[in-house]
Amino acid sequence: MSFILCKQVVKAYAVSGHEIVALRGIDFEMEQGEMVAIIGPSGAGKSSLLNLLGGLDTPTAGQLSVGGQNLLELKGKRLADYRLNKIGFIWQQVSQNLLAHRTALANVTLPMMLAGASPWQRRKRAKDLLAAVDMSAHNHKRPGQLSGGQQQRVAIAVALANQPQLLLADELTGALDRANAVAVMDLISDLREKYGLTVLMVTHDLEMAAYADRVLTLRDGALAQDMSGRESDPPKLDTEGRIKLPQTVQSHLADAHRIAVEIRPEGVLLRPEQDEDDNTEALLQEMLPQDTPPEKRRLRLFGRKKK
Ligand SMILES: Nc1ncnc2c1ncn2[C@@H]1O[C@H](COP(=O)(O)OP(=O)(O)O)[C@@H](O)[C@H]1O
Ligand SMILES: [Mg+2]
Repeated sequence: MSFILCKQVVKAYAVSGHEIVALRGIDFEMEQGEMVAIIGPSGAGKSSLLNLLGGLDTPTAGQLSVGGQNLLELKGKRLADYRLNKIGFIWQQVSQNLLAHRTALANVTLPMMLAGASPWQRRKRAKDLLAAVDMSAHNHKRPGQLSGGQQQRVAIAVALANQPQLLLADELTGALDRANAVAVMDLISDLREKYGLTVLMVTHDLEMAAYADRVLTLRDGALAQDMSGRESDPPKLDTEGRIKLPQTVQSHLADAHRIAVEIRPEGVLLRPEQDEDDNTEALLQEMLPQDTPPEKRRLRLFGRKKK
């Protein structure tokens, strides 16, 4: 059985009397030890998916299991235990990952203290982890005395404190410059080998996503599947600009009146179009920035601007 199993996962938020559907039926699996990156524009539902897997929120519908544990059945102490021991979570906001008044060392020992490790054990492991993230020289500094890149390194040590199986990283390099981002991703790759971690990361940076074994695209609450790896003879573009699509993809386009071709930040999208009416809205949508969340796009389309 897969290490992570998401089946038809739906997440809806109730906001002032109406519903925002952030995830509309996500199907997705991950093997133990795999590293997967999810890319997608802002508002696509990336954080919502990570929060569900981290046990920080519950799905509205669907099935969700991690390491054979059904997350929908976890409540109270067992849920707290899952969050504390099974998952390491790293956020984009460096300030969200660390407590400002504690030193690097005291930040790393905290989750172990909560999990009931002895003072000797937690001090030893915290020192080892800070050495593993190359921060030994800064054990006694507080976050405010460290750079953004250094704080993210400490955050990684905190996330690994209780030896989790799964590391969830929500745009962990999003607030870093390129050099620091690359250094942090190199570190994640090393630690993944060293501790046999399963890593699920969210990013909108293709260069960081390239560290993963697999990249999935999330847009408007739905995951795009990469079909190219399933064929023994992956599709290639010929000199005439033609491409032979896999059978499974052809069936999605077979009934289309015409096929729209869109250039997206992550590649080229082929979209079936039924008739002319569909086209008007699609064209209008194209005129708006692609990272606008869907509900805002709609509001702007109908000119309901609040001033
Ligand atoms: N706690 C929340 N309450 C209400 N709406 C939310 C909440 N979290 C996210 N959303 C909405 O759900 C959608 C997906 O958000 P999110 O998962 O944060 O996307 P991403 O991380 O890809 O930017 C957005 O439309 C967002 O406004
Ligand atoms: Mg997000």
